[in-house]
Amino acid sequence: MGAIILIIQLFLLILPSLTKVVESANTTLPGCRDSCGKVPIPYPFGIGPNCSMSEAFELSCSTTNLTTIPYRYSALIMNISLSLGQARVGMPISSKCYNITTKLYNESTWEADLKDTPYRFNHEKNKFVVIGCNTLGYLSFTVNQNDSYWGGCVSGCDRLESLSDESCSGIGCCQTSIPKGTSYILFEFVDFRNPKVYSFNPCSYAMLTGEDEFVFNTSYITAQQLLDQNTTIVIDWFIGNTTCDSAQTNKSSYACKSDYSICLNSSSGPGYLCNCIDGYEGNPYLQGGCQDIDECTNRNACFKDEKCHNLPGSYKCSCPFGKRNKHNDERDCELNLSLFIGSCVSIVILSFLGFGAYVVHERRKLSKVKEKYFQEYGGWTLLKKIQSDQGFGFTIFTRRQVELATNNFDSANIIGHGGQGTVYRGTFRDQMVAIKKCKIVDESKKKEFGKEMIILSQINHKNIVKLLGCCLEVEVPILVYEFIPNGTLFNYIRGKNKGSRISLSLRLMIAHESADALAYLHFSASPPIFHGDVKSANILLDENYMAKVSDFGASILVPSDKEQFVTLVQGTCGYLDPEYLQTCQLTDKSDVYSFGVVLLELLTSKPAIAFDVLEEERSLSSRFLVAMKEKKMHDLLDDEIKGDDLEVIMEVAELAKECLNMKADERPTMKEIAQELDRIRKLKQHPWGQEYNSDEMEPLFGEISHDTGCFGRDKEAEVSIAFGR
Ligand SMILES: *[C@@H]1O[C@H](CO)[C@@H](O)[C@H](O)[C@H]1NC(C)=O
Ligand SMILES: *[C@@H]1O[C@H](CO)[C@@H](O)[C@H](O)[C@H]1NC(C)=O
Ligand SMILES: *[C@@H]1O[C@H](CO)[C@@H](O)[C@H](O)[C@H]1NC(C)=O
Ligand SMILES: *[C@@H]1O[C@H](CO)[C@@H](O)[C@H](O)[C@H]1NC(C)=O
Ligand SMILES: *[C@@H]1O[C@H](CO)[C@@H](O)[C@H](O)[C@H]1NC(C)=O
Ligand SMILES: *[C@@H]1O[C@H](CO)[C@@H](O)[C@H](O)[C@H]1NC(C)=O
Ligand SMILES: *[C@@H]1O[C@H](CO)[C@@H](O)[C@H](O)[C@H]1NC(C)=O
Ligand SMILES: *[C@@H]1O[C@H](CO)[C@@H](O)[C@H](O)[C@H]1NC(C)=O
Ligand SMILES: *[C@@H]1O[C@H](CO)[C@@H](O)[C@H](O)[C@H]1NC(C)=O
Ligand SMILES: *[C@@H]1O[C@H](CO)[C@@H](O)[C@H](O)[C@H]1NC(C)=O
Ligand SMILES: *[C@@H]1O[C@H](CO)[C@@H](O)[C@H](O)[C@H]1NC(C)=O
Ligand SMILES: *[C@@H]1O[C@H](CO)[C@@H](O)[C@H](O)[C@H]1NC(C)=O
Repeated sequence: MGAIILIIQLFLLILPSLTKVVESANTTLPGCRDSCGKVPIPYPFGIGPNCSMSEAFELSCSTTNLTTIPYRYSALIMNISLSLGQARVGMPISSKCYNITTKLYNESTWEADLKDTPYRFNHEKNKFVVIGCNTLGYLSFTVNQNDSYWGGCVSGCDRLESLSDESCSGIGCCQTSIPKGTSYILFEFVDFRNPKVYSFNPCSYAMLTGEDEFVFNTSYITAQQLLDQNTTIVIDWFIGNTTCDSAQTNKSSYACKSDYSICLNSSSGPGYLCNCIDGYEGNPYLQGGCQDIDECTNRNACFKDEKCHNLPGSYKCSCPFGKRNKHNDERDCELNLSLFIGSCVSIVILSFLGFGAYVVHERRKLSKVKEKYFQEYGGWTLLKKIQSDQGFGFTIFTRRQVELATNNFDSANIIGHGGQGTVYRGTFRDQMVAIKKCKIVDESKKKEFGKEMIILSQINHKNIVKLLGCCLEVEVPILVYEFIPNGTLFNYIRGKNKGSRISLSLRLMIAHESADALAYLHFSASPPIFHGDVKSANILLDENYMAKVSDFGASILVPSDKEQFVTLVQGTCGYLDPEYLQTCQLTDKSDVYSFGVVLLELLTSKPAIAFDVLEEERSLSSRFLVAMKEKKMHDLLDDEIKGDDLEVIMEVAELAKECLNMKADERPTMKEIAQELDRIRKLKQHPWGQEYNSDEMEPLFGEISHDTGCFGRDKEAEVSIAFGR
């Protein structure tokens, strides 16, 4: 609403500059005088030949005075009104006087004949007035050219005293109106004064006079001041002798030549007049005669404070912007609250709409981008799988959810930098989660990503960090894992948590559980998964020091039909299988080699690779193999376990040595390692049970696969599909 008002206001501000004021138009034909003395003479009247519309309007100008040239009556013209079709002209007063001494009458009466002229006596503004004592004055007049009547009034008075000024109602003065359409007048007197009257009233008068001009004065009775005087009367003039309707049928004779002109029937009879339409002024009888009135030149056109705007044919008053007319009589503008508020509101609404549109646009753009990534990472495959597989326990997180959970990837929430990306601590629905923001993903792997997610999400082992979900709406996928509170094994034996005591049996438990997890990946997962980056830093410990293998960033899913060749060898120095380095072929035995190094770490609490020592001592595995050969293994052992069960330690060392075999084929499988470690653990727990047969133990993986991990997630975990705009 406000906006519309605003536009209108602007329009009004611009408008005046469009309607330029034209210099006042001519009122006469070209080359004709436009006035005589002080009296303007507009067309259709004209002074001299060829200046008027017809002969009847042709005036003569003798220096200052004008004379109509109606054939039997000529009069001075005082004034011509174009719009009213009237003229004020002079007319002599008729009189009849009686000379007491000579006993003679001197009568002068006038007749005015306007028949067959475009003039008529105006019946509304003129009065027939008779002045005298006991005088009958009357008029003989002709209406509508042919109908003749007479009429008049009697003015009676016996005594001078009975007269009063300004009263013309029968005593000394009488008046009457004339009929409409009068075109001929003849004044007559019937005088029945007695001699007594003659003494004070020598003359009687009869006259036609413009009603508003005549005021009776008793001196008119006694003195002879009206003798040989003229009155001013109003005559109507008109064009043609037909009505507008018939006049308009003949365009060439139609007198209203100007645009913006209209035709008016003459008020006193046949014939018509032309006028300019409202808002225009000028001479409607001339082409281009009607001009727009610039009403704004009139200071009173608008109220004080208002702005005046001239429009074609009209004008508009408006208060300055933000104000409005008071509706009472005060000529003032007041603050227009409703307009003000309206404008404000509309501006606010417009801003909101604009902002809204912007937001929607940006959202669309964003969701397009999101969708693109989603598509690229095989999100639809994943979504389908999730939908078809209720209780799958895997969530596709929205970008927003992830951002909220990590407080927009606040660096305070970082819990680790891995080779594959950065890991944040996050909270999602009151659960602690670990959120891993991967580094840039290999283009060729992108399409497989969704598939991989499905496989990884199906891994359900108590010693493997559970993948809870992922977010695909970002350039680089974000993975959401269960949160493991106690950090990595590496930190435990080497890093920040160094110093906390880890008993041999705890180390054995961690080793066994890790081996279990890897065995599961190698043999129970479908397709098999090679971890690719087994190291102490990738083994997490929960609050009960239960091992949780994590980080499958470098892992390779092995399709049964083809070998896996890796173009870029990934992994960590000190843990890398030498054969893998040469062949670039990642096998389950590569993981075995790396696991051997982890076993060494558990035994020695030394780093897999050290840079502050001699070159040949850098690699823990080399040092170990040398030590084993020289039977100096004891020197390498962590002080904390040195005094512990040496037999158990040596069994683990032997196992590690097998794992570190240069020939991959000769290394044991993860399954075998897990079994061996289980056996060694039991040996440690029950040294008396040497004869304990490990084969009789419960199936290795059976119990595990039903475990949901320590997270305690509801089996019917909600499938959250919050993918939208
Ligand atoms: C007015 O009359 C003059 C000559 O008298 C002529 O040049 C001019 O164009 C006329 N103006 C209009 C608007 O007719
Ligand atoms: C008036 O017009 C007539 C013909 O229309 C012409 O003969 C005459 O000369 C004109 N008179 C003047 C004064 O222009
Ligand atoms: C014009 O009229 C006035 C009175 O109306 C008169 O006094 C004057 O003599 C007249 N002039 C001419 C030239 O007729
Ligand atoms: C009255 O009008 C006539 C013409 O109609 C004129 O000759 C005469 O001088 C006028 N008389 C007076 C007193 O103006
Ligand atoms: C002509 O008439 C107008 C009003 O109709 C009046 O205001 C003006 O004074 C008159 N002029 C003369 C000279 O009588
Ligand atoms: C009457 O007539 C006589 C002689 O003609 C003249 O002297 C006298 O002034 C006249 N009286 C009046 C009132 O006109
Ligand atoms: C009659 O009146 C006229 C003027 O009104 C005057 O000129 C004339 O002399 C008068 N005649 C007589 C006989 O008084
Ligand atoms: C007026 O009367 C004359 C003669 O009687 C006649 O020719 C004419 O048509 C009449 N005019 C009107 C308007 O009646
Ligand atoms: C009547 O006329 C006389 C003389 O001309 C004048 O003194 C007086 O004021 C007039 N009275 C009125 C009411 O006009
Ligand atoms: C109207 O006027 C025209 C000429 O202007 C004339 O021929 C015609 O007779 C008139 N008609 C009447 C009814 O007066
Ligand atoms: C229209 O008027 C013109 C001029 O006044 C005249 O010559 C013509 O005959 C008229 N035409 C009609 C159809 O009345
Ligand atoms: C003029 O008068 C005629 C007849 O009286 C009537 O039909 C017509 O509407 C009138 N035109 C105007 C513009 O008043």
